[in-house]
Amino acid sequence: MKSQQPQELNAPWLQYLIDEVHDKYTPLTDGDVATYIPELGKADPEDFGICVATSGGNVFEAGDSDRLFTIQSISKPFTYGMALEIFGQEKIFRHVGVEPSGDAFNSIELENGTNRPFNPMVNAGAITVSALLYEHYGDAALEQLLARFSAAAGRTLSVDEAVYQSESRTGHRNRAIAHLLLNFGMVLDKIEPAIDLYFKQCSILVNTRDLAMMGATLANLGRNPITGEEVYNIDRVKDMLSIMLTCGMYDYSGQWAYKVGIPAKSGVSGGLMAVVNRQLSVATYSPRLDKRGNSSRGIEVCTHLANELGLHVFDCMNAGSSYLKAMLE
Ligand code: DON
Repeated sequence: MKSQQPQELNAPWLQYLIDEVHDKYTPLTDGDVATYIPELGKADPEDFGICVATSGGNVFEAGDSDRLFTIQSISKPFTYGMALEIFGQEKIFRHVGVEPSGDAFNSIELENGTNRPFNPMVNAGAITVSALLYEHYGDAALEQLLARFSAAAGRTLSVDEAVYQSESRTGHRNRAIAHLLLNFGMVLDKIEPAIDLYFKQCSILVNTRDLAMMGATLANLGRNPITGEEVYNIDRVKDMLSIMLTCGMYDYSGQWAYKVGIPAKSGVSGGLMAVVNRQLSVATYSPRLDKRGNSSRGIEVCTHLANELGLHVFDCMNAGSSYLKAMLE
């Protein structure tokens, strides 16, 4: 593993801003903790962590940023990136589309005509991706997935057995989706181990700092900013971030792109990871969710920081990142 010296960033104002935002949104108690996976209902609704990690490897944290929780749907862009690397865009595109569905993350629906799931961020698409990973790796799939997620986070991650068992016992809707996919030939018939892999990937334990490092790895073009390891190929990072921008916040994705304008992914345990290309990642943890399954405080924190720091991809303060721009200057 090639290690890389973080470029020291002396930015007390950024730490001050993060502390201030944490204080501002601590009183916000809108929303409810998810209980449809019974074990998630045990989360402390007051927990609230924020972490910003830069593509240069600097980390700024506030609140409960070391509290562990399960990654849930934030695993989806990372497994999508792995599947793209193994099978290539063309094959993956035959199995999963790239269109926002405009529907809830767990809706039981496939695209008219192609019978593909709409995109890899809704459960149907993510289960298809897990099935493809299982098809390729067999029983070694979880180990491969954990190794890749750990490389992105920069530390060894593991599965929360209690959350995994809880989702496995109650995940009837996801099993129904998997059988629908099987009916349309979108996945091979080893559907039980594939769904088991999906439940386990959702149950990987992270803290807010891990999520921010995983996001910073994407912001840093696929290379972990602290270890220096290349975790994802740069072209796949482009695919992952594109799909996060258009589909990462479910049926709030359009409003999110309009207001916040940063690729992001949320999870039902209350995590949220947003990525500013070549600059930084913002991660938050707060388990109270809005009606669409996104963390209420997480949305407010990201909106606030995007406005304050000009992070929106089309904000006039955002310097942008294309080579052409640099050449034209
Ligand atoms: O499939 C499920 O229901 C969960 N394991 C993951 C869903 C999720 O995180 C949706 N996010 N907002």
